[in-house]
Amino acid sequence: MNRTTRIMFGLLMLAFSSAGFAGADDKCLTCHESIGGKAVDLFKRDVHHAKGISCAGCHGGNAQSDDMEKAMDPKAGYIGVPKGDDISRVCAKCHGDSGRMKQYSSHLPTNQIENLRASVHGKLSTNGKERIVQCTTCHDAHGIVPVKNPGSPVYPLNIVKKCTQCHANAALMRTYNPSLPVDQLDKYRTSVHGMRNAKGDAKVAECASCHGSHDILSVKDTKSSVYPTNIPSTCAHCHSKAEYMKEYKIPTDQFDKFSRSVHGVALLQKHDLGAPACNSCHGNHAATPPGVQSVSKVCGTCHALNADLFSSSPHKKAFDDRKLPECETCHGNHEIIVATNKLLGVTSEAVCSRCHNESQNVKGFATAKAMRGLIDSLESREKRAIALVNEAEQKGMEISEAKYKLRDAHQARLESRTMVHSFNEARFQDVVNKGIVVSASVSEEATQALDEYVFRRVGLGLATLAITVLAISLYVYIRRLERHQAMGGK
Ligand code: HEC
Ligand code: HEC
Ligand code: HEC
Ligand code: HEC
Ligand code: HEC
Ligand code: HEC
Ligand code: HEC
Ligand code: HEC
Ligand code: HEC
Ligand code: HEC
Ligand code: HEC
Repeated sequence: MNRTTRIMFGLLMLAFSSAGFAGADDKCLTCHESIGGKAVDLFKRDVHHAKGISCAGCHGGNAQSDDMEKAMDPKAGYIGVPKGDDISRVCAKCHGDSGRMKQYSSHLPTNQIENLRASVHGKLSTNGKERIVQCTTCHDAHGIVPVKNPGSPVYPLNIVKKCTQCHANAALMRTYNPSLPVDQLDKYRTSVHGMRNAKGDAKVAECASCHGSHDILSVKDTKSSVYPTNIPSTCAHCHSKAEYMKEYKIPTDQFDKFSRSVHGVALLQKHDLGAPACNSCHGNHAATPPGVQSVSKVCGTCHALNADLFSSSPHKKAFDDRKLPECETCHGNHEIIVATNKLLGVTSEAVCSRCHNESQNVKGFATAKAMRGLIDSLESREKRAIALVNEAEQKGMEISEAKYKLRDAHQARLESRTMVHSFNEARFQDVVNKGIVVSASVSEEATQALDEYVFRRVGLGLATLAITVLAISLYVYIRRLERHQAMGGK
């Protein structure tokens, strides 16, 4: 028998025999106890031992015999020390078979092996084509305790060490994927999650709470729990649970607000991967690095122009001095909505009026008012130009060139919305004026076209009139001629 057939035979024997059940009479254990060794010591606190499972439950053999040869006889199903994929096969013999688990009155899920095989880890093989990640990689072989027991290697406070024994090992990871970063642990340790985890807080996110355990997928897989469109619900798993988060005294509305925000709608409803998910602003592993100001900087990675303008604006220093975050102060963070003109100006809806009024920061008050006046003026002129172009078009006038120019007016309006962030009236006015000039010229062309339409209508009327008059005159003339001839003929 070669190794594989021997093991298969062993597994078969195990499946049909009661070798796994040893009860109080586990001769494997009794003899091994007398020899001593790590395996036996650990096994005494093992959940399998507590369930009456013998060494033979995994290694096979005859647990009733105190004769070493007979007990550890391959003919009795003994498989020795399993290696490579045989390890997970041994575990799955019970953990992949719900009928078998029910015999131990266990209702644990039995999907671990399927999930592991389909995971990014299950696809990784050694040169010998066996998987590098087996059940024992995370759970160990002996001394296994329930996963909720703080002594378990997969308990939240211990799992980080398990994952990073590979993921922080550059030499090992390079042999599988040289482009994969190995800095997760370093970054994680700087995050609120990582710092609290290191201090013994088992409720914060660790590697498996974000990535899963048996079912870990590549981060590029659309089904991965950390694929951009899935991230918000992965984080919400804890952050939206008021009861779970109670002791931390932080809000639990981030997901609700985010899903209603312009970013959330773009990401979750329109599947726009250009829109940020929670991690775009908070980092993957470094959720809020120390110094919250850096979170705001993140907006500029996508809205670069707004950030540049802000940096050269008078608000830069004013906000820095007051430790106000750059973008959030006006836009918020999770609840960011579509920006409109209403944000600008000195009405109660305008953000400017929160800090500028007739007696406070007066210069900004005047500027805010003027800027709003300018953008309102541009908007109404653009609207008028659009209305005139539409009217002319409906009347069948050729107006495509003016219509094309409308784009420039629209463009100027978009630019002006960004230019708000210069908080400089002159620069703002330059952009707005471009749009006003274009709108005016479009309106003029459209008005001309409409005038021409009227002219043509009047012209047509006159021509019809002239033709009618001519026709009547001709008719009268002919009648008269006929009458003349008739009289002459008599
Ligand atoms: C009477 C004593 C005795 C009994 C009973 C016994 N063993 Fe052993 N076992 C030994 C000794 C001694 C060794 C070490 C010998 C060796 O290294 O080859 C050993 C080695 C092993 C090893 C390690 C083999 C390796 O290749 O490193 C495993 C696994 C094992 N036993 C499992 C079992 C199981 C399962 C049972 C019950 C079905 C069992 N033993 C019953 C004495 C016993
Ligand atoms: C839940 C399954 C399981 C049970 C039960 C179990 N083992 Fe093991 N054992 C394994 C696996 C799997 C390995 C291989 C470990 C590896 O390569 O990581 C192993 C390895 C060993 C080894 C060789 C390496 C080492 O750790 O020393 C010995 C010896 C051993 N087991 C003895 C025992 C004895 C004795 C018992 C009972 C007291 C026992 N095992 C119970 C799964 C089990
Ligand atoms: C990459 C690490 C890893 C590997 C490999 C792994 N597990 Fe787990 N396992 C975990 C973690 C973490 C948990 C904790 C619960 C959770 O987060 O799902 C867990 C939980 C469990 C549980 C408790 C019930 C459950 O599903 O939550 C069982 C049973 C279990 N694993 C068995 C296995 C078996 C059998 C294998 C091999 C087929 C295996 N595990 C491979 C990490 C791993
Ligand atoms: C002979 C059947 C059998 C084999 C083989 C077996 N287990 Fe188990 N395992 C069980 C039973 C039964 C339990 C207890 C289930 C319960 O309490 O609901 C258990 C519990 C566990 C738990 C604790 C789950 C929890 O959180 O309650 C883990 C982890 C685990 N096994 C991993 C392994 C690994 C790893 C292997 C292979 C090295 C393995 N098992 C082999 C039957 C088996
Ligand atoms: C035995 C080593 C080992 C252990 C332990 C391990 N991993 Fe991995 N992991 C790898 C290797 C190797 C890759 C594959 C890299 C590749 O091919 O892209 C990988 C891939 C991944 C990926 C996918 C990266 C990508 O390509 O997008 C994630 C996520 C991941 N592991 C998370 C974890 C977590 C979480 C744990 C702990 C629960 C863990 N790993 C435990 C070795 C390991
Ligand atoms: C708070 C959630 C969270 C925690 C905790 C977390 N990750 Fe990640 N992880 C992510 C996100 C999000 C990504 C990136 C997804 C992307 O790039 O689109 C990621 C990416 C990865 C990758 C792919 C390579 C990379 O760095 O981009 C690996 C490997 C990985 N994580 C391993 C780990 C390990 C190991 C731990 C534990 C030390 C861990 N992660 C903890 C959320 C988390
Ligand atoms: C397993 C639960 C869990 C998951 C999953 C989780 N977190 Fe957390 N997170 C916590 C807990 C608990 C805290 C600690 C709260 C505290 O100290 O204020 C925390 C803290 C934070 C903080 C710092 C809050 C502060 O105190 O200012 C941020 C930011 C954060 N998480 C973001 C995220 C993001 C983004 C994700 C998803 C990629 C995520 N978290 C996933 C549980 C979780
Ligand atoms: C557009 C960027 C952005 C996105 C997307 C984002 N956040 Fe935030 N988040 C912030 C900023 C900025 C803060 C405030 C930091 C500060 O001032 O303390 C913050 C604060 C937090 C806090 C601390 C408690 C609080 O509410 O102030 C948590 C927890 C948090 N975010 C979780 C999340 C989660 C979960 C998601 C995804 C559903 C998410 N964030 C999406 C930017 C973002
Ligand atoms: C990952 C890139 C990214 C990041 C980071 C980001 N945004 Fe956005 N943002 C977008 C995209 C894409 C849209 C357009 C969504 C749509 O309209 O479909 C958008 C839309 C907006 C809008 C509405 C624009 C409009 O037309 O009214 C505002 C305001 C905004 N973001 C502000 C912010 C602020 C403030 C931050 C930082 C706290 C931030 N964004 C971070 C990508 C990003
Ligand atoms: C002092 C208040 C204020 C601050 C600070 C501020 N904005 Fe704005 N933002 C506005 C106003 C007002 C509008 C709306 C302009 C309009 O539609 O008339 C706007 C519009 C926007 C828009 C939509 C228009 C466009 O450019 O596409 C984006 C995106 C935006 N802001 C991003 C940012 C970012 C990023 C920052 C930080 C660098 C920031 N804002 C800082 C007031 C502010
Ligand atoms: C969070 C408070 C805050 C908000 C909101 C705010 N500003 Fe300011 N602004 C300031 C402060 C503080 C100064 C510095 C005033 C000073 O030093 O006198 C300033 C200065 C200015 C200046 C420069 C005035 C000068 O002295 O040259 C302009 C212009 C300005 N703001 C326009 C605006 C506009 C427009 C808005 C609305 C889109 C706005 N501000 C919203 C706080 C704010």
